[in-house]
Amino acid sequence: MTDLIVNDRPVRFDMDPQTPLLWALRDAANLTGTKYGCGVGDCGACMVLVDGAALRSCLVTVAEAEGRVVTTIEGLSRDRSHPVQQALVAEQAIQCGFCTPGIAIAAAALLARNANPTEDEIKQAIANLCRCGVYPRLIRAIQRAGRVARRAERISAAPAPGIDAEDAAAAVPAMRTD
Ligand code: FES
Ligand code: FES
Repeated sequence: MTDLIVNDRPVRFDMDPQTPLLWALRDAANLTGTKYGCGVGDCGACMVLVDGAALRSCLVTVAEAEGRVVTTIEGLSRDRSHPVQQALVAEQAIQCGFCTPGIAIAAAALLARNANPTEDEIKQAIANLCRCGVYPRLIRAIQRAGRVARRAERISAAPAPGIDAEDAAAAVPAMRTD
């Protein structure tokens, strides 16, 4: 048994402690917003916050996450109101969206420690891969999110989903069979 806090809730995983946190979140907790891209730490699609730091969950075991506070994209905000989420939508910095949860997590961690990053600081902090190549829009979005975080600008671009975050995976399954 491994106990941790996921999106502000205590969670106990009854699985091999060497299981990557990515699979525990996706398969056991049904938090499928965290994506599997490469599985070897290259792409960043699997990023989650662990005690506030953006980590690649494919490289963290459940045992290593014991007692930690984990935040996935589902828990970043309950209504898509996080400045990064709002700015990604407002700047249309999303194409297929596969990389987006990991990038949003990495950007949130960056802005938490530096709400006014330069372009170079963003490039250095956001090493995530995007096969659609949204990088220029991403820079604009993260700088805009910084302005929102600093209360220098307001955006209301992200619509309220109308679905509680904890029910999202069940209410909007990735694949419907009916
Ligand atoms: Fe973890 Fe690519 S799936 S870095
Ligand atoms: Fe498609 Fe980044 S938007 S991989």
